[in-house]
Amino acid sequence: MGHEAEMERIEERIKTCKRCELWKTRTNPVVGEGSLSAKIVFVGEAPGYYEDLKGEPFVGKAGKVLDELLESIGLQRNEVYIANVLKCRPPDNRNPTTEEIRACTLYLDAQLEIIQPEIIATLGNFSLSYIFDKFGLHSKKDKISKIHGKVFAVSTISGNKKIVPLYHPAVATYNPNMKGALIEDFKVLAKLL
Ligand code: URA
Ligand code: SF4
Repeated sequence: MGHEAEMERIEERIKTCKRCELWKTRTNPVVGEGSLSAKIVFVGEAPGYYEDLKGEPFVGKAGKVLDELLESIGLQRNEVYIANVLKCRPPDNRNPTTEEIRACTLYLDAQLEIIQPEIIATLGNFSLSYIFDKFGLHSKKDKISKIHGKVFAVSTISGNKKIVPLYHPAVATYNPNMKGALIEDFKVLAKLL
């Protein structure tokens, strides 16, 4: 099966998914978006209000910040892939639960299998935690304030990858100082590309 067909199959599964309770309150699931041959995949947390309405990732305030950050290193959205740990919005944007993450991440895993990115940039703590555990970096986990913008090399059965933990772009919407840190960290990504 080609990559597009495989991703469509995952999309169909997500649209009818009832593996956790979040299907009951979602308007639309947010599968993810971008190039299936992207060198870099950004992994966010979960859809928010606008993402749930539109069925697309990062289309609210945090999305505006993400667009600016991508632009700052000359990248367009269609050159990268953007996904989330959870595909459905938690009510009132509450944190994902352990059960929800356990139920949903087979989809993210499948997406990463298809795309095989060289670089995975995590956005926020839930993404960092899941991706670090998945790639055997458990012992390297630390506060995001300590490890943001650092590059963690991992080798997998399908090749070497680099994991780069980043602050969630939403932090820049309530703390403008964080924008600078994100811009600096994106320069690190630019060097890897
Ligand atoms: N925050 C996220 O983590 N993901 C989105 O898609 C939007 C906001
Ligand atoms: Fe299924 Fe994930 Fe949505 Fe839960 S959040 S219903 S596991 S797609």
